[in-house]
Amino acid sequence: METSTRTKTLSLPPFDKYFYYFESVQSPAEDARFLEEVYVKARGRVPLVFREDFCGTFANCCEWVKRSPRHVAHGVDLDPEPLAYGSEHYLTKLSPKQQERIHLHKSNVLGNKLPMADVICAQNFSYFIFKDRVTLKKYFKNCLRTLNKDGVFLLDCFGGPKCQEPNEEVSEQGDEPNIFDYYWDQDTFDPLTHEGMFYIHFKRKGEKKREKVFAYDWRLWTLPELKDILLEVGFTKVDILWEGSTEDGEGDGNFVPVERGEDCDAWVAYLAAYK
Ligand SMILES: C[S@@+](CC[C@H](N)C(=O)[O-])C[C@H]1O[C@@H](n2cnc3c(N)ncnc32)[C@H](O)[C@@H]1O
Repeated sequence: METSTRTKTLSLPPFDKYFYYFESVQSPAEDARFLEEVYVKARGRVPLVFREDFCGTFANCCEWVKRSPRHVAHGVDLDPEPLAYGSEHYLTKLSPKQQERIHLHKSNVLGNKLPMADVICAQNFSYFIFKDRVTLKKYFKNCLRTLNKDGVFLLDCFGGPKCQEPNEEVSEQGDEPNIFDYYWDQDTFDPLTHEGMFYIHFKRKGEKKREKVFAYDWRLWTLPELKDILLEVGFTKVDILWEGSTEDGEGDGNFVPVERGEDCDAWVAYLAAYK
């Protein structure tokens, strides 16, 4: 028994937190296609300049530049560590011409020297880090100011009664021999402030659980709050894109504009804010 566990462990590559994060929560090719599609539907032409705020390892930028030789991407993040990881692991997989069309900015998304873009995205709820209205408003204003004419700002959001209490979800991910468990752990929720503490844990087969590999101290903003602030800073229109469902009630991955939501335990939606 001991030997087989050891053999399994030895056959695994060294633990790489960004690899497991990518496998568990990111789908950059689908995301780049979706972000472009929202713009095309609204404006009737293809957006070329993309800005990925809170870009981390800038996986979306790397997919964006594959869409055509004219597609250009800017990634903005404060932290040099994920930027360096993306430069080593994702950027190097692109052709030299594609690499030239990616520009990285080790900057604060609240700063005043951000590049202009046709599409700006803030994904994986990263703006939940801004816990007060004044700061969130400053960020949204900055996005509006740095969008080109007809630009679109896309941000995701999650909610539902299940996110208003501690809970942990686990799912099996990966392929043999590197199958692993991904845990999304909501540790706290404060109904007064809507603040919550979230963690990602991983467990590879034959190893003990690696706790708190990523930690997020967030305010859970609601859709009406976000829509109000986006309109308040001057976006001309805000659509809420709700996910369709399969016959067995699971999300089908198609997000379309709706006027009314659907009461469910937990949901993910997008907001599309138009300049
Ligand atoms: C949850 S990760 C998101 C990574 C990536 N966008 C994704 O979809 O997986 C949040 C990222 O935001 C960055 N970040 C936090 N505050 C920031 C700020 N004020 N300006 C720029 N980046 C920031 C962090 O360094 C981190 O890489």
